[in-house]
Amino acid sequence: MRRKQKRLLQVCGLLVAALLFLPNVGLWSLYRDRGADSGPADGPAAAVQAVSRLGEAAQPGRHGARRKDWHDHEAIGRDRARSGNGEQGKPFPLTEADRVDQAYRENGFNIYVSDRISLNRSVPDIRHANCKLKLYSDSLPNTSVIIPFHNEGWSSLLRTVHSVVNRSPPQLLHEVLLVDDFSDKEHLKAALEEYMVRFPKVRILRTKKREGLIRTRLLGAGVATGDVITFLDSHCEANVNWLPPLLDRIAQNRKTIVCPMIDVIDHDHFGYDAQAGDAMRGAFDWEMFYKRIPIPPELQQGDPSEPFHRPQGQETEMESEWTQRNMSRPPVFLSNT
Ligand SMILES: *[C@@H]1O[C@H](CO)[C@@H](O)[C@H](O)[C@H]1NC(C)=O
Ligand SMILES: *[C@@H]1O[C@H](CO)[C@@H](O)[C@H](O)[C@H]1NC(C)=O
Repeated sequence: MRRKQKRLLQVCGLLVAALLFLPNVGLWSLYRDRGADSGPADGPAAAVQAVSRLGEAAQPGRHGARRKDWHDHEAIGRDRARSGNGEQGKPFPLTEADRVDQAYRENGFNIYVSDRISLNRSVPDIRHANCKLKLYSDSLPNTSVIIPFHNEGWSSLLRTVHSVVNRSPPQLLHEVLLVDDFSDKEHLKAALEEYMVRFPKVRILRTKKREGLIRTRLLGAGVATGDVITFLDSHCEANVNWLPPLLDRIAQNRKTIVCPMIDVIDHDHFGYDAQAGDAMRGAFDWEMFYKRIPIPPELQQGDPSEPFHRPQGQETEMESEWTQRNMSRPPVFLSNT
């Protein structure tokens, strides 16, 4: 093989690897191949058409699937009534004493503040108003949520699990796999196992030596038995209705890898807010670092809650070229070996 060709192949290989192992993104999902669900895959243009729009209640969608409102309005009401430290995603009132270096040393965020905020705390629903009215397929695949951690703080790890369990429709949450990458903190051993007994869907796995983030994620992926794999960081909080829109995209096209809008929890006071610039695109720079880049004005839609809705035939040249090139390919599989 000529050198130039080889270089190109390597770059392609790198790209695929980067897509599979997206670091620091917080969450992405892969639809696991179960052999059974073949059937032609839809290109993005077709998939986009099936995305729910307002006023389509109970109408069968493109694949005959009915759509429904997945919001748990009762839980939303209960959350709205909560008050106290950090509730509604409000910043914790910090004193100078709370800012001591020690508080940040082990986790990179203020663990003292985290410890004083409820594990079930409420977070504000800062989505575009139209998102609250969206309907998604009523037959979605379920998911295994994989949360790798290494010496994570007690309250931040537990708040992650509580929020996932509290804000996921039970039938869509197949299991939560906590994968311990060889932590040595005492609180992550027997105490964690005892605590998690109350959550029948939570399993704890441990590596036998320090593996690093990606191998730890893959270990969880190899053990997972849900339809879709979802990776979460160990210090995040799920907001209302976080799961159905992600799974819906995958239900439309099982080759889809989805990444949600990721809001920010302040590392000092745990206040909850949108990321600067709000909606952006994900991209890799030439050093393969993942970046958020602004959506060019000509691609922005009138309705920000439908950023990808583009009538068929009106994709940009780049999009349709990408579609033609990629949608006839076999899917990429993950394995844990
Ligand atoms: C969180 O909520 C659950 C019920 O959803 C309750 O059993 C549990 O005691 C609560 N925990 C805390 C720390 O508030
Ligand atoms: C998730 O789906 C699989 C089938 O794909 C099923 O065996 C399993 O029971 C489901 N889990 C839940 C929690 O419903």
